Amino acid sequence: MKSSTAPNIRLENLTIGYGGNPVVKDLNIEFPGGKLSMVIGGSGSGKSTLLKHILQLQPPISGEIFIGEHNMGKLSRRERHCIRQRTGVLFQDGAMLGSLKLIDNIALPLREHTKLSEEQIMRIVQDRLAMMGLGHALELYPNELSGGMRKRAGLARALVMDPQVLFCDEPTSGLDPVMSAELDQLLLEMMCHFDMTMVVVTHDLASMRGLADHVVILGESKCLYQGTIEELEKTEDPYLRRFLDRAAEERDAPRLTMAPISQEMMKLNCNSIMGEKDTVRKDPQCSS
Ligand SMILES: Nc1ncnc2c1ncn2[C@@H]1O[C@H](COP(=O)(O)OP(=O)(O)OP(=O)(O)O)[C@@H](O)[C@H]1O
Ligand SMILES: [Mg+2]
Repeated sequence: MKSSTAPNIRLENLTIGYGGNPVVKDLNIEFPGGKLSMVIGGSGSGKSTLLKHILQLQPPISGEIFIGEHNMGKLSRRERHCIRQRTGVLFQDGAMLGSLKLIDNIALPLREHTKLSEEQIMRIVQDRLAMMGLGHALELYPNELSGGMRKRAGLARALVMDPQVLFCDEPTSGLDPVMSAELDQLLLEMMCHFDMTMVVVTHDLASMRGLADHVVILGESKCLYQGTIEELEKTEDPYLRRFLDRAAEERDAPRLTMAPISQEMMKLNCNSIMGEKDTVRKDPQCSS
């Protein structure tokens, strides 16, 4: 097995939220170094909130966050800056600057934070873009990219500084199943290529089953599970069982249908579309 020098991320008695109102309480979680962890949970369970706090974009209500041995709440500005430089983030929409070509978007962190020559920068940028299958798209602007290309471009930018830690918020959201599977494959390849700790937030149970070394489930304002996927699959906890079986239920469920519309409402709609006087003549269904 590959040995790793990528840091663990440890949350100790961490309560997070906004304006003093907790969203998730008392988290004691460890994301193992050099592994791919996935945070999963229902909408509003606090997944993105957790990422924002680990990234120091939001101060915790209480508790501590460690990356390796560094207590993130007690760093000097310089130390925080160093850690941020080695931290990659893939935001949901790729977060590219619309006025810059792809090649310049990806080069931006290197131009801002390193003293590398332009030639070295271009070598790294072209390498990362080629790795993401975007070698042909250097000159395109973000609005000329498809959703899947934008995600891959976001990954190329997140990787450009050789991060030790990479966070991805919903990397497959908005992608069709084929593109989602391609992106999952890319994440796996990245884990083989780079020695890093990856934390991926997702709704996607299929991705979790295919990718995760380690799983954290949030719900009911707390951490409901942390551990391996194999242990999780054996769980008899009713909430977790329902959660895991949801994928199968969703697959077998009939398509979402509209709730029946009352005759009264139908009449109202027809009237407003056609004009009151014509209603009965044009559509007898609306005449009741
Ligand atoms: N900036 C904010 N200020 C106040 N409350 C917020 C803020 N951002 C999120 N929240 C609240 O925090 C809770 C958790 O939101 P969060 O975005 O972390 O959920 P999530 O698990 O990422 O959901 P989703 O799967 O829909 O992305 C929600 O109740 C939300 O309304
Ligand atoms: Mg979210």
